[in-house]
Amino acid sequence: MQIALSNKPPKESLELSFVTHMPANSKLFKMLEKAGFNLKEGTTYLDVHHNILYVASRSLCSEDLKISAAKAIQSIQKSSFMTLFIALEQYQDQLDVAALAEGLILGDYYFSQYKHESQKHQERKLFIDYSGSMHTKHHLEEILHEVDMICRNVNLVRDIVNTPPQDYYPYIMALDAKYFAKRDGLECKILGEHLMQEMGMHALLSVGRASVHESQLIHLTYRSEHPKVKIVLLGKGLTYDSGGLSLKSSDSMVSMKCDKAGGSAVLGVMCTLKALGLECEVHGIIGAVENMIGGNAYKPDDVLRAKNGMTIEVKNTDAEGRLVLADCLCYAQDEIEDFDYIFDFATLTGASIVALGGQTIAVMGHNDTLKEKINTAASQSGELVGFLPYNRYFEHELDSEIADMVNTASTRNGGAITASLFLDRFIKDENKKKWLHFDMAGPAYSQKAWGYNPYGASGAGVRLIVQFLKNITQKSL
Ligand code: BES
Ligand code: ZN
Ligand code: ZN
Repeated sequence: MQIALSNKPPKESLELSFVTHMPANSKLFKMLEKAGFNLKEGTTYLDVHHNILYVASRSLCSEDLKISAAKAIQSIQKSSFMTLFIALEQYQDQLDVAALAEGLILGDYYFSQYKHESQKHQERKLFIDYSGSMHTKHHLEEILHEVDMICRNVNLVRDIVNTPPQDYYPYIMALDAKYFAKRDGLECKILGEHLMQEMGMHALLSVGRASVHESQLIHLTYRSEHPKVKIVLLGKGLTYDSGGLSLKSSDSMVSMKCDKAGGSAVLGVMCTLKALGLECEVHGIIGAVENMIGGNAYKPDDVLRAKNGMTIEVKNTDAEGRLVLADCLCYAQDEIEDFDYIFDFATLTGASIVALGGQTIAVMGHNDTLKEKINTAASQSGELVGFLPYNRYFEHELDSEIADMVNTASTRNGGAITASLFLDRFIKDENKKKWLHFDMAGPAYSQKAWGYNPYGASGAGVRLIVQFLKNITQKSL
């Protein structure tokens, strides 16, 4: 979806008209009602005689508008209307242009790379008529540029996560990182298995051992000219999670290409920073690994030594994400000095979906003020977060008889929290208050479209973190 400003409707274009209420005596609304149109969110009516698409929306801003804009564009996906048009004047400047653009760009996404040529997705174009609007052209251009950059990268993350595991494995993720780094002037360090061996990252390496694809640690760095904060973003990049020897059932293995969503979100954020000119230093670290089975696979009962020397007794090879993240957390805290925040993103547990549902990112950590900042960024960005609490009774759940810890608790109850407490064991004391863990197993990937998110990958995490970075570097439009 391309969006441009214009002050006259282009030929053959379809006008978008958002309807929030139905005045009783209006002729137009009587006609719409007759045609079966109602105010239920996202209901559409296409008037082919006048080239107008009516869309019901709860309001003209934020999530309401994003969702109905997405429904509008989806309702004409199979039509031949390629050019859309909207007149701001009609809404007396009450229409939230940023939300409109976001809903359209995210709602128009369709993963068609593996479809027959004839089914490939064609990009539509929207012209926004700003004549009679209080906004200046320059201001609107700024808003649209920012939304476009963010949403394009959300869609990039969707593409990465949706790409099948035979075509997207750790080396490809590293190639992508190198390409983005070159394009945007980021620093890029890639560690292969040999270097990770030398560094003692045996937890991560064990997970990837049975794969034919070499594990990769990706470290991207963005530095603005006058950075106001320094932040580390870590991502779980399991390009496939078969469960390993604790093999997943056939049903739950389907869609496990999504297990790279945390790492992909980190890539997506790294790609947005320069375009938005955010004043910060950001380190993006991704553990790109494939969890497979084979004669040399790591096993339940193995004891692994992580980079910081801690030993882990493996109880379940399907709890592999935390092993990969443990070594990435050690790497980050050893290699990067004096950061302000360290966040990790992972499709870590099915238990987080049980706890909060399929749309909400579970956030855990020790710093309530920081959680509050994330909560604010979530409501501004439209991503959903929920906070899961620690308590003292979880503390001994990860004790092992023979090693420093086990990789899974003895009970499945509170599984998202115990997974987070496993990671907590790899956070140095001085960094406890700087750290948050984001379990995005729910929203990262869905078998059913929701709101402006399609079937498959949603690109979760990108908008939330970019908004957080905008807030703490105080860049506002
Ligand atoms: N990648 C999965 C978690 C997951 C589940 C992601 C559903 C997306 C959707 C993770 O590696 C895993 O298998 N976790 C186990 C942990 C268990 C063995 C303690 C789980 O959640 O069942
Ligand atoms: Zn797993
Ligand atoms: Zn996993």
